Amino acid sequence: MSDFLDIASTDADALRDMLARASAMKAARGDRPKGTPDDEQPLAGRVVALIFEKPSTRTRISFDVGVRQMGGTTMVLSGADMQLGHGETIADTARVLSRYVDLIMIRTFGADIVQEMAQAASVPVINGLTDSSHPCQIMADVMTYEEHRGPIAGKRVAWMGDGNNVAQSFLQAAERFGFDFTFSGPEQLDPDPSLMGALRASGRDMRVERDPARAVADADLVVTDTWVSMGDAESSRQRRHNLLRPYQVNAALMANAPEDAIVMHCLPAHRGEEISDDVMDGPRSVIFDEAENRLHAQKAIMRWCLGV
Ligand code: CP
Ligand code: NVA
Repeated sequence: MSDFLDIASTDADALRDMLARASAMKAARGDRPKGTPDDEQPLAGRVVALIFEKPSTRTRISFDVGVRQMGGTTMVLSGADMQLGHGETIADTARVLSRYVDLIMIRTFGADIVQEMAQAASVPVINGLTDSSHPCQIMADVMTYEEHRGPIAGKRVAWMGDGNNVAQSFLQAAERFGFDFTFSGPEQLDPDPSLMGALRASGRDMRVERDPARAVADADLVVTDTWVSMGDAESSRQRRHNLLRPYQVNAALMANAPEDAIVMHCLPAHRGEEISDDVMDGPRSVIFDEAENRLHAQKAIMRWCLGV
């Protein structure tokens, strides 16, 4: 049994195996109705706790549906409704949950909370997003890129805007999956310098390019995300918008990108802010395939965690 806490803390071979299994499971399902079970039922008899200390649409529903398709049952829990939100420690919560459930997925604030949960739990823990990373998202993103364009190794991803949790998981994935990375955003919102340094040290080309048009010029994949993340102070909204406005992914920006470059956004999108409607709904967008692949990728992640 293994935790899935971050891309950088998971073996490259294991990540590859998970993606291969995700694709195989997706293909095996074909287009049968979402509510029908998979032929294989590896989670039969298992209970999964899904804990949310921040809002969620995709993570909540894709994990829940994924567990059901694999024969397990779920409990979707809000941190605020648990004693966790009223002073019970993370470690005690983890110890207690480990007596009831087989797997824990948690979306929360600090990365230390997930670490503490994993340390105290005797069942696997999955990081469903923290202020500093979103590894499940990036597994779906790599899967989606490869479905549309083949192997991501040797390609270049251009991240536009805020160097947030999703950007940071992308940086970790660049090392693990062997692609190059351009960060394009204001200096004040750079990703963690140690992650950029680690990617450079691994031998990949990691570029910081403040000019958005130049950043996308050699990109195979252009990615953006909200300008204000769930962990960001509401009071920073105006400042962030002012800093990030030049990095909007719109048709004019995409005119600078190679013709076959595709666009991703983990969603939820703020149309007209970080991404324009024409790009979001245009032929280069694979955004809704990306959202679907959360389901398939996470099913494979859960199987890997449980060793089933
Ligand atoms: N992309 C993503 O994690 O979406 P939710 O916040 O809706 O779960
Ligand atoms: N960066 C965003 C991602 C949402 C899935 C946030 O943390 O709010």
